[in-house]
Amino acid sequence: MPKEDSFERYLLARRAEIDAALDSVLPHPPACPPLIAEAMRYSVLAGGKRIRPILTLASAEALMEGQLTAVSIPSDWNQILIGACAIELVHTYSLVHDDLPSMDDDDLRRGRPTAHVVYGEGNAILTGDALLTQAFIALAQPNSTDSPELEHRRVRAIACIAEAAGAGGMVGGQALDLAATGTQSGGTTALRDMHERKTGALIKAAAVCGAILAGGKPQAIETIETYATHLGLAFQIVDDILDVEGKTDELGKTTGKDETNDKSTYPSLHGIERSRVLATEATEASKAALATAGLGGRLAEIADWVLSRTH
Ligand code: IPE
Ligand code: IPE
Ligand code: MG
Ligand code: MG
Ligand code: MG
Repeated sequence: MPKEDSFERYLLARRAEIDAALDSVLPHPPACPPLIAEAMRYSVLAGGKRIRPILTLASAEALMEGQLTAVSIPSDWNQILIGACAIELVHTYSLVHDDLPSMDDDDLRRGRPTAHVVYGEGNAILTGDALLTQAFIALAQPNSTDSPELEHRRVRAIACIAEAAGAGGMVGGQALDLAATGTQSGGTTALRDMHERKTGALIKAAAVCGAILAGGKPQAIETIETYATHLGLAFQIVDDILDVEGKTDELGKTTGKDETNDKSTYPSLHGIERSRVLATEATEASKAALATAGLGGRLAEIADWVLSRTH
């Protein structure tokens, strides 16, 4: 866990660490057919901001620095890194499926043709399935040197990610998104609920599983959870705003699609100006949670980045 001075350098260093770890957890033939191995790599190693796995690492670091962990049992940095990879694999699966013709029907992602454009729809569905499964293969790998406490943390992290990904979380949110498409029905509460599930749940799990794997004390985990709940909402409001105001080149995905698809979004319900205010409020709330608990590290800078990002 080397120290980096500027936030930019911190992001670059963590991204490099995450990308190397992702490369090592993805399967190779003959463990699986070459086509599925290639499609998984194509989708995962295509860049991406890596904000979720960075959050996992940053949450763990913040707790380890702040002595908010059960310090008697040191955490294993490699295990935290595997947790971060699991989150990114689940996230990438969600993108591959989100882009399918039967969902948002997008042909550009992370600056490249989407998986279904390159490999066909059936293979893209399977690639998503494989990425989701690979996340849990990676995290469930037994480590002979693990103490019962470290094993317990790992099982808790698995449960945390699975719950966030499943019917009550991301999948549920995506189902609400599909149901709301073309209707512009549902008010503020319904839209917020949809965003908290489809995007917020995994962002929250990213931060919380870092805290769990670092051996965070219950109160510290709760603080991280509050921080990340607000952050997850801010993230999706900004995503909605960028779909209106961002540049396709910078985002690596086609802008204006939410309007074309008649999606329920913050700008469509509240307008751009109000959406910006709501994103700012959510970001401030996330930072306030940290400040109240005296949590330092990079988490507040990550919140500012979520709000100010242009891609
Ligand atoms: C896009 O997520 C999908 C949403 C949940 C809004 P990101 O904006 O984090 O996409 P990548 O990982 O950087 O490509
Ligand atoms: C996606 O939301 C949420 C996911 C679970 C992937 P969007 O549909 O707005 O994400 P983008 O804009 O396509 O990245
Ligand atoms: Mg979508
Ligand atoms: Mg989409
Ligand atoms: Mg979007």
